[in-house]
Amino acid sequence: MTTTEQVTDRRAVAPDDHDLWVHRFGRTERFAHWWTVSMVALALLSGIAMGDDGGGPLLAVHVSAVVLIGVGLAAAIAVGDRHALFDAARHLFVIERREARWLRTTLRHPLRRGPEPPWGMFNPGQKLLAWALSASVLAVIVTGILSWSAGGEGGLHAPAVLVTAALLCAHLFMAVLNPATRPALNGMVFGHVRHTWAAKHHAQWLQDIRR
Ligand code: HEM
Ligand code: HEM
Repeated sequence: MTTTEQVTDRRAVAPDDHDLWVHRFGRTERFAHWWTVSMVALALLSGIAMGDDGGGPLLAVHVSAVVLIGVGLAAAIAVGDRHALFDAARHLFVIERREARWLRTTLRHPLRRGPEPPWGMFNPGQKLLAWALSASVLAVIVTGILSWSAGGEGGLHAPAVLVTAALLCAHLFMAVLNPATRPALNGMVFGHVRHTWAAKHHAQWLQDIRR
């Protein structure tokens, strides 16, 4: 993509780049995110309504929601912009050496904060969350299948759901409340973010897409 396509709003070319917007997520990536959010919400609500008896018509809704996550993602890959989707996934899950080093230092000394390095599309915190969330959602599904085949003998399903919910609360805090990260919400809803925000939090990414 060229720079002209990336910078979607050129109405105000202010000297401080104030009103420039940069393309971040296309329709396929946004569909994949919000489809997953909707189906996880449906699974969570039907699960809570069903309680630990785990039977009746709600169980069908509950299991269908999870199957539909897979159906939606497969459809996104089949008919959407799979190149952009895989590209975003690669950015999200590949942890580079300097990022791993930063994570180790930060986890060891959480209060000692230096200047923010020029991160790529996602920062190491987001990558760590992505791995943790993937693992915990997998644990929810596996324990769900185990509970299901044991006739609703819960086991570790509810605890796995709690771990996932805690991770999602952290994600929600970053997406909606935390002033430094909530400008990203615009990208996940409309597809673009402010140039000034990207320059501050994802400087390397900005350079990469300019090339
Ligand atoms: C994102 C995925 C899922 C979420 C958020 C979720 C959430 C929940 C919640 C909150 C409950 C109620 C727990 C309780 O009150 O003790 C529950 C129960 C249950 N879920 Fe899930 N679930 C998911 C996936 C699945 C899957 C894939 C299956 C089976 C294929 C499944 C099978 C069951 C069964 C059988 C119960 C009733 C017995 C029990 O509590 O273990 N769930 N689920
Ligand atoms: C089942 C629920 C959800 C899952 C599994 C999920 C998962 C993810 C993942 C893996 C990412 C990529 C990296 C990152 O962590 O930023 C992401 C990005 C994002 N999510 Fe979610 N999410 C969920 C719910 C939500 C909700 C409810 C919101 C907002 C109200 C939200 C807002 C965002 C935003 C704004 C981004 C983009 C961050 C950026 O541009 O850097 N997510 N989500």
